[in-house]
Amino acid sequence: MSSLAHGALPLLFLCVSLFGCCVRAKVELNMHESVEVYLGDSAEIPCQYSFTDTDSKPSFVIIQWFVRGEQNASRTRIFYGDGGQQMVDGATDYSGRIEVTSDQRGTRLLVRDVRLSDEREFFCQVNGLSAGNSEGRTHLRVFAAPQAPVIEGVASGISVTNEMPSKVASCEARNGFPKPNITWYRNSQPLASAPGQVNVLILVTRESSGFFSVQSTLEYRVAKEDKDAHFSCEVSFFVPRAIRTIESHSVNVTVHYPTTMVELWKESPQGLVKEGDMVELRCQGDGSPPPPFIFTREQEPSVTLESRGDVLILPAVSRKDSGIYQCRPLDSDGQPDVKGEVQLTVHYLDPAVVVPRDSEVMQKGEDLTATCNALSSLKTSTVWLKDGEQVGQGNTLHLHDASYDTSGEYECEVSVPSLPALRTSGAVHIIVQGGPQLVGPEDEVQLEEATGRMVNLSCEALGHPLPSISWNIVGSQNWYEVVSRASERMAHSVVSVRVTADVSALCNASNSMGAEVKAFSIKAIPRVTTPAPFSPAEGSGVIIVVIILCLLLLAFLGSVVYFLHKKGKIPCGRSGKQEITKEKSAKDDIVVEMKSGGQKEEAVLLKAVNGDQKASSDQ
Ligand SMILES: *[C@@H]1O[C@H](CO)[C@@H](O)[C@H](O)[C@H]1NC(C)=O
Ligand SMILES: *[C@@H]1O[C@H](CO)[C@@H](O)[C@H](O)[C@H]1NC(C)=O
Ligand SMILES: *[C@@H]1O[C@H](CO)[C@@H](O)[C@H](O)[C@H]1NC(C)=O
Ligand SMILES: *[C@@H]1O[C@H](CO)[C@@H](O)[C@H](O)[C@H]1NC(C)=O
Ligand SMILES: *[C@@H]1O[C@H](CO)[C@@H](O)[C@H](O)[C@H]1NC(C)=O
Repeated sequence: MSSLAHGALPLLFLCVSLFGCCVRAKVELNMHESVEVYLGDSAEIPCQYSFTDTDSKPSFVIIQWFVRGEQNASRTRIFYGDGGQQMVDGATDYSGRIEVTSDQRGTRLLVRDVRLSDEREFFCQVNGLSAGNSEGRTHLRVFAAPQAPVIEGVASGISVTNEMPSKVASCEARNGFPKPNITWYRNSQPLASAPGQVNVLILVTRESSGFFSVQSTLEYRVAKEDKDAHFSCEVSFFVPRAIRTIESHSVNVTVHYPTTMVELWKESPQGLVKEGDMVELRCQGDGSPPPPFIFTREQEPSVTLESRGDVLILPAVSRKDSGIYQCRPLDSDGQPDVKGEVQLTVHYLDPAVVVPRDSEVMQKGEDLTATCNALSSLKTSTVWLKDGEQVGQGNTLHLHDASYDTSGEYECEVSVPSLPALRTSGAVHIIVQGGPQLVGPEDEVQLEEATGRMVNLSCEALGHPLPSISWNIVGSQNWYEVVSRASERMAHSVVSVRVTADVSALCNASNSMGAEVKAFSIKAIPRVTTPAPFSPAEGSGVIIVVIILCLLLLAFLGSVVYFLHKKGKIPCGRSGKQEITKEKSAKDDIVVEMKSGGQKEEAVLLKAVNGDQKASSDQ
């Protein structure tokens, strides 16, 4: 059958062409210019025809489909059909992949699983023999979307000083069909090629699979503003009846540009700088990348100070470090005006100088003015302290009418209100010189004391030089000094005197400037002979015991005298009276012994008498 169709074909063609040149064509054929389809989909290519001369409607129509060769213009039949048979030609690209359906009005070719090689022309030939014949064509267009574009920015910095455009980024879109396009954007604005400013280099690769891969390189002349610019690429490609785009993510570039402006400032410490501080000066410019800086002082421009990067560290500044500091970038191509400057002022406070120095001797009643000065770069404030209390303000201290209280250490403290860390102090020791001055309200002291008791007499004297104290005691042999103390400007002496009779004591405080005397007079009070005022509780207890003993003795003696008188043996005489007096005085001695004997014994005795222990306390 196939061989028959093949044999018949040239004959038919001959007839068709014979009629075709002389007779008006009677077949009207209608095909799409092109049919567009995605790779892998099925393509349907319709071919509609009609016979214009309805009278001679053919009973026999031959339909054939051809494809154009890939490399050359020759055609290959892929299908044959007539009233009797439908046949897909074997051994073509389309054997097993096509299907043709026909009806009265037309035929349609279905290509399944479209490949890239299917991008070609398909011919539909209709032959109604005497009724006429015709042919039409449709270009099958195949589309495959490329992968999303991959952009890669240039990692290294790009200098604005480059004369020609430099590579900024590259972009690749792989495996598209047909060939996709790549468009570049800067901050979402498309970049058009411009000589000397924008170059786009395109490399199109046809993969063995038939796909197109496009690589685009953007060369761009960067300016300083581009440091913040974003570059992106966009791939555009045809799809059936449309153009689609996919945008890449964006990249930025590192733009290198020279420094045109530099700033220098004090980073630390905050506020005012004082001697001894560590000072940090930081330099910053607008260049990129940040250039190294050199630091100098204005008065010595040729001496480079040792710095750490953009920081100059002055470890412990002194007033000599005050001045103007400068920093210069090393990338400014020797432009001398590109520099940063800062004025550093190092404040100081010198040690305080106090006049008079160290110590000063004043005479009692004199006046003195002391001064305290400390040189500073800032305003200072001075206070004077004595024994921790403020006694003056300002750098002079006036001392009027010096007394011994005026003596002492005067400290002046100098501080700087605007820089509290700065402070210093100095001191002067004031010594007030003068004759002795006895402490106490009276210079004559009157005392009364029981005979036999010890009395302490105290004498304190101020003075410079330190007074020495001597005692002159009349009326007692039994005295001794129990306290002898001396402080810086006061002497203190206590003597303990046994009162045996009326005593008069003189305390004589003297130094090279004079002498002063304090008098004590002690009236001795006899102890037992005056029992009436029972003021000393201990004494009264003893006296009661004595009286009771005496009364008992008297009663006993009375009864003896009465007995003897009754017998007439003894006359009333003086001997008895004498005995009584003797006894009394003997008892008195016992009392004195008890007292000097010790507190314990006395206390026991008292308890036995009146049961009141408190009465034992000495008055
Ligand atoms: C044209 O290409 C086809 C394959 O596509 C090949 O078979 C044929 O020989 C070629 N014809 C010429 C004239 O090159
Ligand atoms: C690609 O660029 C060419 C030339 O400018 C243009 O003719 C074509 O339509 C573009 N294709 C797409 C998919 O934008
Ligand atoms: C790009 O920009 C980002 C943020 O916008 C920034 O963090 C990054 O450092 C920039 N990269 C370059 C090379 O400028
Ligand atoms: C006298 O002073 C000394 C020493 O301070 C002291 O031990 C003594 O008890 C005092 N005597 C009297 C009677 O106050
Ligand atoms: C006190 O002592 C001084 C020096 O020892 C002496 O010159 C003076 O006469 C004495 N005064 C009296 C009242 O004893």
